[in-house]
Amino acid sequence: MIRVAIVGATGMVGRMFLKVLEEKKPNVDEYVLFASSRSAGSTVHFMNKDYIVEELTENSFDSGFTYALFSAGGETSLKFAPIAASKGCTVIDNSSAWRMEKDVPLVVPEVNPGDLAIHKNIIANPNCSTIQAVVALKPLHDKYKIKRIVYSTYQAVSGAGQQGYMDLEDGIKGVPPKKFPYPIFGNCLPHIDKFLDNGYTKEEMKMINETHKILHDDTIKITATTVRVPVFYGHSESINVEFYNDFDLDTLKKDLANFPGIIVKDDIENNIYPMPIDAAGTDEVYVGRIRRDFSVDYGVNLWVVADNIRKGAASNAVQIMEKLIEKE
Ligand code: A2P
Repeated sequence: MIRVAIVGATGMVGRMFLKVLEEKKPNVDEYVLFASSRSAGSTVHFMNKDYIVEELTENSFDSGFTYALFSAGGETSLKFAPIAASKGCTVIDNSSAWRMEKDVPLVVPEVNPGDLAIHKNIIANPNCSTIQAVVALKPLHDKYKIKRIVYSTYQAVSGAGQQGYMDLEDGIKGVPPKKFPYPIFGNCLPHIDKFLDNGYTKEEMKMINETHKILHDDTIKITATTVRVPVFYGHSESINVEFYNDFDLDTLKKDLANFPGIIVKDDIENNIYPMPIDAAGTDEVYVGRIRRDFSVDYGVNLWVVADNIRKGAASNAVQIMEKLIEKE
């Protein structure tokens, strides 16, 4: 009997967990939905049934769960994931709380499924921007070996949860922002998550550290600038990559197109390139504007787009759970 807890079921990613589960129908017998006391008792329609949302407490996992999908913020994960894990439940955590811990696999199923082999009941879902980047980079790193990466992101407001989404919707009507420090409508904020002592934001350092961990290669030199833009759904990324080895551009495009989860959209003569409005609502990673960086010996520029709430969060977590169920 497989029982699954959805933690943060009323949030931006939590509601997408439910949608993706309805679509994919993994082999699960029972679901229980949890959120904070604020929405405990509310009703959520899911899998043709009405579910009453329960308050997450220290005893919530006593009844025995096989898996828990967490997306209720870092503090909730820090406190409750170890409680769930200690009771035999495997947590798939969407927050950044556990990602860089040694015994916690950080997994994108197309990229490093082997890392799921050993865990201590906590598995981390990577940062949304990292997930789509490493899907595009994995086939290239395997074949041409990456020397250096420059990430520049254009990230949707939904990545900041329900409140971030509301700031753009309200901003269109002239209402001041509540989540972001400045208006996001008609604006770009080079500021995602907290600023750190080294001058980078936490989001930028997540991309750098998580890329190293997922690709199992700390020698890659990486820098990043992450920017919030007035888009509801879908993160876009300019990724500049330098390789150790030479490549043929047409072959490199085929390497990308042949990799699971990637759709190459690159036909500039017909103005075809990936855009967030096309990626929204899908689980694929779209790659376009693929062109040689002629300022270095072996470099390429990529434009990579994906739905940050689906592949960047909920769908990736559900795919991890499906892999675990498959293995059992
Ligand atoms: P609630 O609806 O009760 O506030 P978002 O990322 O869209 O802001 O959503 C955050 C999700 O995490 C919501 O489902 C929210 O529930 C939930 N959440 C926040 N804090 C807690 C907590 N302390 N315990 C359980 N769930 C929480």
